[in-house]
Amino acid sequence: MSPLSAARAALRVYAAGAAVVLAQLLRRCRGGFVEPVFSPQPDRVAIVTGGTDGIGYSTAKYLARLGMHVIIAGNNEDKAGEAVRKIKEETLNDRVEFLYCDLASMQSIRQFVQKFQRKRIPLHVLVNNAGVMMVPQRKTVDGFEEHLGLNYLGHFLLTNLLLDTLRDSGCPGRSARVVTVSSATHYVGELNLADLQGSRSYSPHGAYAQSKLALVLFTYHLQGLLATQGSPVTANVADPGVVDTDLYKHVFWPTRLVKKLFGRWFFKTPEEGAWTSVYAAVAPALEGVGGRYLYNEKETRSLAVTYDLKLQRQLWARSCQMTGIPDGTGGVFPASLPRREE
Ligand SMILES: NC(=O)c1ccc[n+]([C@@H]2O[C@H](COP(=O)([O-])OP(=O)(O)OC[C@H]3O[C@@H](n4cnc5c(N)ncnc54)[C@H](OP(=O)(O)O)[C@@H]3O)[C@@H](O)[C@H]2O)c1
Repeated sequence: MSPLSAARAALRVYAAGAAVVLAQLLRRCRGGFVEPVFSPQPDRVAIVTGGTDGIGYSTAKYLARLGMHVIIAGNNEDKAGEAVRKIKEETLNDRVEFLYCDLASMQSIRQFVQKFQRKRIPLHVLVNNAGVMMVPQRKTVDGFEEHLGLNYLGHFLLTNLLLDTLRDSGCPGRSARVVTVSSATHYVGELNLADLQGSRSYSPHGAYAQSKLALVLFTYHLQGLLATQGSPVTANVADPGVVDTDLYKHVFWPTRLVKKLFGRWFFKTPEEGAWTSVYAAVAPALEGVGGRYLYNEKETRSLAVTYDLKLQRQLWARSCQMTGIPDGTGGVFPASLPRREE
């Protein structure tokens, strides 16, 4: 990518972030964010990817507080031990555990699913939360550009491998739920189907935004397929806002400095950032409702191009090829997907 295009991609991402930060600041001045309250759900089982830190940790803790059996899927065993211990201690819920899953490795994801399925327990909630942001150009073990491979393809494969279990665990009136964490940066993302891996032109900002855009397209297409098949599973997107976490460790140093100095006022706390994921995972108002982009616990419009059924379909087919799973959709364009661009 030419330096000019890379600078443009960076500017777009910073502009999207600044707009969200400003909106969050205004909201704080008007009374702030209010913690949602849900009734206990001790009969539910949830997997939270990246539940060892940040928004994922707070999501796992909230679900554990509701009494759910929570499985944290992550790639950092040292951190996981401490996370599980703290969640158990703070929620008095003993059914919190860690299962190793490196989302940057297709083999590790497959092994995780096998280990989970050997437990012979249901799965009611899958929170696709883990992610990296603006890492330097590097590849996953399977040779994918890291944002695409970990943030997007890793969750694409994980969800597909767990779909049968989710289908078997949901029932009419009590659907299983897939919650996929995207970001406001998807609004400035561009999907480059001809060069998804950015091998001809790479910018960390563009690659992160593209991975978050791909997650929205994936969720809408998945919801369309689930609805067409009459599956008791729903799929929604959660946008946490701009949140004070370690996700920013690879951004340009002045941004890190600003975050360090002013983050506590301008950014959401990880708990506040988790509330939209929790809302998508448990809110009774969302029973049977899928294909939504949720922000501050409310439905909102995502980027217009995310409602393009043909693009969703093309990305799905390409993702099946890249992850080596069969594309069972056979060219079907789900008709029942909500078309919010109208
Ligand atoms: N923070 C924000 O402002 C913001 C805004 C919009 C969207 N989001 C999204 O929110 C999600 C959570 O981010 P966060 O802010 O909570 O960041 P974070 O604190 O850095 O947490 C990211 C989590 O993902 C895990 N992870 C990283 N690489 C992994 C891998 N290869 N396999 C498995 N897990 C891996 C991390 O584990 P380790 O800690 O062990 O690396 C960590 O638990 C991300 O999808 C991000 O894009 C965040």
